[in-house]
Amino acid sequence: GLPPRVRIHEVGPRDGLQNEQQVVPTEVKAEFVHRLAGSGLTTVEATSFVHPKWVPQLADAEDLFPRLADIEGVVLPVLVPNERGLDRALTLGARRIAVFASATETFAARNLNRTVEESLAMFEPVVARAKDDEVHVRGYLSMCFGDPWEGAVPIRQVVRVARRLMDLGCDELSLGDTIGVATPGHVRALLAGLNEEGVPTDAVGVHFHDTYGQALANTLAALQHGVTTVDASAGGLGGCPYAKSATGNLATEDLVWMLHGLGIETGVDLGRLTATSVWMAERLGRPSPSRTVRALAGT
Ligand code: HMG
Ligand code: MG
Repeated sequence: GLPPRVRIHEVGPRDGLQNEQQVVPTEVKAEFVHRLAGSGLTTVEATSFVHPKWVPQLADAEDLFPRLADIEGVVLPVLVPNERGLDRALTLGARRIAVFASATETFAARNLNRTVEESLAMFEPVVARAKDDEVHVRGYLSMCFGDPWEGAVPIRQVVRVARRLMDLGCDELSLGDTIGVATPGHVRALLAGLNEEGVPTDAVGVHFHDTYGQALANTLAALQHGVTTVDASAGGLGGCPYAKSATGNLATEDLVWMLHGLGIETGVDLGRLTATSVWMAERLGRPSPSRTVRALAGT
């Protein structure tokens, strides 16, 4: 059966914007997050405390995060790769962080300048210190299905790193299909493989990019397996600057359209969300790639 309710983990301000070439003004980002919160989303990933040279678009994290302090009833996770990033986030009062690992060596090297093992060692004190402070920790795992340099990624290789992230103390995992190559059968097989290693489905969220148009089908397969946390990006913005051929995330509007059609609650007002993506598309100077945004906005 399907769950009665799904928690949408909105990644537009982070995953959505991190790949934009033109720097988006901080006040526009702040308004974006406020509008997303106002549309009923309860988790909005706000920014990243990574090295500013690695992701120049999010170099304004110190300026942006305090502008979100008035948002109530919405959690605002931030990406943190290392202790330097954790210090920056904790200083500003962040209560939810996400570390981000890779299932493949090539992407670990390109995205984190580390081997898989070295990146886990980098995360260890981050997760430990966060847990001491009762800060919630999400563990992203990238390249769970395929890698642009290494091709298909074996399930046992993904499960091994997932297990390590859980052992570090992550409260939840997010399975990243960074380049959007997953198909529903592969999703089912990975979730089953995780269960066999003692990673329960209720600790797992899914993070699909829509490169091959499979994101909704993959999401449905995950829901049928018992997943209730789904990542999406308003308007379908996004991509990873360090993963060649990564396009936008699953569009939040496309996800909400499907979930509401299935009678699954999200708490999201689709009209307000669509208006937000149309507004953001005007700021970015190009139409949203989301089919649902286009249909509802009549563009
Ligand atoms: P590095 O060059 O190895 O850094 O980068 P380092 O540890 O050698 O430190 C070098 C200098 O950087 C030091 O300064 C540090 O203080 C400074 P120095 O002492 O030389 O003056 N530094 C920092 N400054 C500010 N904030 C920090 C920080 N860390 C070090 N946090 C590093 C290693 C991890 C920092 C770098 O590789 C990095 O920032 N990577 C982030 C890449 C990224 O953000 N990628 C996108 C997010 S992942 C994604 O999109 C996938 C996802 O959506 C899921 C999916 O789709 O699969 C999550
Ligand atoms: Mg992503």
